[in-house]
Amino acid sequence: MIKIPELKIGNLIAKLPIIQGGMGVGISMSGLASAVANTGGIGVISSVALGMLEHASKKSYREDNKIALRREIRKARKLTNGVIGLNIMVAISDFDEMVKLALDENVDILFLGAGLPLKMPEGISADYLKKMHTKVAPIVSSGRAAKLIFKSWDKHFAHIPDAVVVEGPLAGGHLGFKPEQIDDPEFTLENIIPDVCEAIESFEDKYDKKIPIIAAGGIYNGDDIYKFINLGASGVQMGTRFVATDECDADVEFKNQYIKCKKEDIVIIQSPVGLPGRAILNDFLTDVKAGIKKPFRCPWKCLKTCDFKTSLYCIANALMKAKIGELKNGFSFAGANAWRIDKIIPVKELMDSLVREFATAELRTECSWMLNF
Ligand SMILES: Cc1cc2nc3c(=O)[nH]c(=O)nc-3n(C[C@H](O)[C@H](O)[C@H](O)COP(=O)(O)O)c2cc1C
Repeated sequence: MIKIPELKIGNLIAKLPIIQGGMGVGISMSGLASAVANTGGIGVISSVALGMLEHASKKSYREDNKIALRREIRKARKLTNGVIGLNIMVAISDFDEMVKLALDENVDILFLGAGLPLKMPEGISADYLKKMHTKVAPIVSSGRAAKLIFKSWDKHFAHIPDAVVVEGPLAGGHLGFKPEQIDDPEFTLENIIPDVCEAIESFEDKYDKKIPIIAAGGIYNGDDIYKFINLGASGVQMGTRFVATDECDADVEFKNQYIKCKKEDIVIIQSPVGLPGRAILNDFLTDVKAGIKKPFRCPWKCLKTCDFKTSLYCIANALMKAKIGELKNGFSFAGANAWRIDKIIPVKELMDSLVREFATAELRTECSWMLNF
């Protein structure tokens, strides 16, 4: 039997090279992350705006975020002995506090996206970074971004990140591309990966450290995993497929959007965060597109880059409403391939099918090679 390779990030080993991408608000919490980790992949909790799901206090948003995040990490730890990661958006106002909390809780790996993690929070020394258990993987969409991060870490810490997630334009959620780049063949994931490999090569040599590349965005089945591993990736990060699972932490109405949507319903929006994003078109987004304001009060500017004075809606609130199934007051982010999903299945069934498809893809390639010999 042909075996899918394990994923090694320094001394951290996942039996399967499959990372479940962090999905906010509240889409990947302890339930989904632990289910993925239990099957041998890396389960990732999204830290963004978890405090909004707390009912205890309406005023202390920062504190609520910390309380909810700590609870989710600990809950996940109780549910699995597997690898648990945390996704933190660089653009959030409490980025420093979230990172410190994650390190304090000793999560296995941090995925830092939606901005460039050029530095770590004040108080985290180079020495600490080098010795800590937690691995760090920035999420980038270009070789240029990877180079900027690695150069900055090299300069400030004499140390480099442990892995890099390369997210292409087919991903769900916020995208690290200009709108005109999204459909430009020059910016496909297949084209960006070699750029990122080239950008970090000299740092791998300097630190004598192998930096695994993780491919993300539009990866749907085991054939795709096989393809990207053959292109030089050590693993993949998938988001969309994990939404349509029993264990995904979103309301079933959120998941049903994925089952019901057609290809033409998956659209690019301009998010108040200042980035384009991929989502499923619904009445809420149609109203916003028509310039209809969705009244909100911004209690604490949770995103550094949010232009809340001119924004027609609060994205954190809209995503939180979608998570709890109130789709009329929000919308769901989704990857370009969400329309291909037709049922909600257990995580184990999804992971087993990915592994099986990977083995078949490998067998197919070997057979065609032998036939041509
Ligand atoms: C519903 C949803 C929410 C997401 N939220 C986040 C997030 O909070 N932070 C982040 O870095 N990426 C986020 N992503 C991106 C995923 O982590 C992942 O990289 C991406 O979905 C991979 O592409 P795929 O969906 O085609 O598999 C989100 C994606 C989806 C579908």
